[in-house]
Amino acid sequence: MKRLLVLAAAATALFANAQTYPGSKPISIVVPFAAGGPTDRVARDLAEAMRKALPGSNFVVENVNGAGGTIGATKVAKASPDGHTLLLFHIGMASTPALYRKLQYKPLEDFEYLGLVNEVPMTLIGKPQLPANTYRDFENYIRANSGKLNIAHAGLGSASHLCGLMWQSAINAKEAMTTIPFGGTGPAMNALVGGQVDLMCDQTTNTTGQIEAGRVKAFAVTTAKPLSKHKLLKDYPSLQEMGLKGFDLTIWHGLYAPKGTPPAILTQLNTALKAALKDADFIKKQDGLGAVVVTDNRVEPAAHKAFVAGQIAKLKPVIEAAGKFAD
Ligand code: MLT
Repeated sequence: MKRLLVLAAAATALFANAQTYPGSKPISIVVPFAAGGPTDRVARDLAEAMRKALPGSNFVVENVNGAGGTIGATKVAKASPDGHTLLLFHIGMASTPALYRKLQYKPLEDFEYLGLVNEVPMTLIGKPQLPANTYRDFENYIRANSGKLNIAHAGLGSASHLCGLMWQSAINAKEAMTTIPFGGTGPAMNALVGGQVDLMCDQTTNTTGQIEAGRVKAFAVTTAKPLSKHKLLKDYPSLQEMGLKGFDLTIWHGLYAPKGTPPAILTQLNTALKAALKDADFIKKQDGLGAVVVTDNRVEPAAHKAFVAGQIAKLKPVIEAAGKFAD
């Protein structure tokens, strides 16, 4: 009887909260990687656009990094379903189930799906001192220095880890490099620019500015075709053009709330997300970084969830063929 009373009180509180949402309490968008990286960048630009779309709201970004993004995702899965804790996560939502046998959450059961946000190509980049200027030189240098080089990433299951794994497998250089994990590719980029690590595969949202400034060297993009419409990135070949048959990797970001968030709040958040993705300033910022904002039908929760389920199924054999496992 006591448990029923507690549940009834909780349900009443959630219902009342839905009537006054968002209220004065901030809405935290948890970024499961360190500040200064591509996920953080998307979250901060999205928070600004969603603030405009949901009157009276105060969206803030909270960085909770570690374990390829699964620590931050766990925090949101276990958060109160009151609409004040959201998760912005990328392809890691679909890659980590194949890499972590002890995930503290079930991706398809422990979250409410609010919609996809964008798609982002990746770039293969090297430290400025690397003695290579074309992808061919770069791959030959990797082969000539087997066992002597290191590749940075943002933890097992992160986009940079997944890309590095797939690329090393495609060129059959899985044992050729040491992998160096960071809390995100923000800090990893600082190490690369400083020459402390040799190479990395990272999202254009984080690499475009560094490439343009000459602080890193770029060698290829991971999309099936070159980014011919981008003023800077059009100059780099796709890995497929460089002979890596079928190599096609694009990162995507989605927005999530804890399971059990009241439907009235989910509707408000999805409506605000759709408006934010139509915000001219947000789209312009994303375009400039090589990212593509998704359109309405992909922002529908059901379509978002079906997409992630498909990605989980697609990535499992890819990861098993390419990589190592971690508990
Ligand atoms: C990744 O490699 O998963 C991301 O770049 C991590 C980040 O946003 O820092």
